[in-house]
Amino acid sequence: MAISWNKNLETGIQIVDSQHKSLVDKLNEFFEACIQKKGKEELMDMIKFLESYVVFHFKTEEDIMQRNKFPGYLKHKAMHDDFIKEFLKIKDRFEKEGTTIELVNNTTKFLTNWLIEHISKVDKQLGNLK
Ligand SMILES: [Fe+2]
Repeated sequence: MAISWNKNLETGIQIVDSQHKSLVDKLNEFFEACIQKKGKEELMDMIKFLESYVVFHFKTEEDIMQRNKFPGYLKHKAMHDDFIKEFLKIKDRFEKEGTTIELVNNTTKFLTNWLIEHISKVDKQLGNLK
């Protein structure tokens, strides 16, 4: 399973779109590494990288919203914060349980669905901000 980039995911804000593309690439690399049953250390490194990239990326979007006094800022930020909480739970489970099929499947589904849903419905509202 991999996320494929398509026009429907474009927000029209160049920096946001290029970060989203990098995020999709990094997620696909992670999914591939799970399928190939790479070692725990390698997967944990990827998870830690994804975590820091997501935090950095959310900050970019939040800065754009704040600069533009975007009315939906708090609601959007709350979604980012909830995602980070879920992501930290996943990280914790990988750390403790290793790569079980159940965990890999749930994680892949959750990350793919959340990202596509969030980008196509929520981030798109940022389209006319600078
Ligand atoms: Fe967002």
